[in-house]
Amino acid sequence: MDARHRVVGPDGAVRQVSETLNVLVKTPGSVGTAGRPARAALPPTRGAPVTGVGDGVGGWVGGPVVPIPTGSVVMLVGPPASGKSMFAAELVRQDKVDAGAVLSSDDIAVELFGPTVDRDVADPEIFAERDRRLAQRLATGQTAVVDATNVLPQARAQLAAIARRFGAPVVVLRFGQPHAVLAAQNAGRDKRLPARQVREYAALMAAHATAEQLRAEGACAVHDVPGRDEQVTPAQAAHRFVFV
Ligand SMILES: Nc1ncnc2c1ncn2[C@@H]1O[C@H](COP(=O)(O)OP(=O)(O)OP(=O)(O)O)[C@@H](O)[C@H]1O
Ligand SMILES: [Mg+2]
Repeated sequence: MDARHRVVGPDGAVRQVSETLNVLVKTPGSVGTAGRPARAALPPTRGAPVTGVGDGVGGWVGGPVVPIPTGSVVMLVGPPASGKSMFAAELVRQDKVDAGAVLSSDDIAVELFGPTVDRDVADPEIFAERDRRLAQRLATGQTAVVDATNVLPQARAQLAAIARRFGAPVVVLRFGQPHAVLAAQNAGRDKRLPARQVREYAALMAAHATAEQLRAEGACAVHDVPGRDEQVTPAQAAHRFVFV
């Protein structure tokens, strides 16, 4: 699968956006095709009730634990540096999922091609492998946590199509930190991206991955995962979720 999509960016320019985050390229003169929600793209879902978004600080600190059905596709949605991978690592560390549950295109890229991989060239193979592993997990009733930005409907529709093949529910976890937090988190890590790129992905998420849109696409539950802005550590956030 080619994980790159043409979209109208937050500044109105037509761009190609790659879920790898390595590419956000202006393509002058081309026509954007994104921005249309993939409505009814997902199957009727089973499993946990929709608990909604915006639990807020009090809801997370003292609120109820959030159940996620085992065998779900847990779709992480968030711009670069929003805390997706740290959260996923905590799910593993806390034994909520096994290490093989976390499907990260970045990790698969390094695994298959090494650290100097040219994502422009290798992405189709990387995402094909990611999707193959996802199908393998779902076929045996195992949960999969898909760690990618997933800010665009096209990327989510691909995952949803695989979920549908296996009748697996899709649970979306949104990582919606404010710009200042994203900038600080991006600046404070080894894998530093241009600040502009982080802002653009955040804008794409705001435009194309609202809770309403995600529900309309068929997610059985959409949850906002708290982070630094709410003074919640990845460990504390992961602690709130149980696989049932
Ligand atoms: N809850 C949190 N509180 C404080 N700092 C955090 C929190 N979550 C993440 N961070 C910081 O943000 C940085 C980026 O987090 P992480 O690598 O998980 O982002 P990501 O969403 O996976 O980004 P990418 O999409 O680029 O892979 C981490 O290195 C960590 O320092
Ligand atoms: Mg990551």
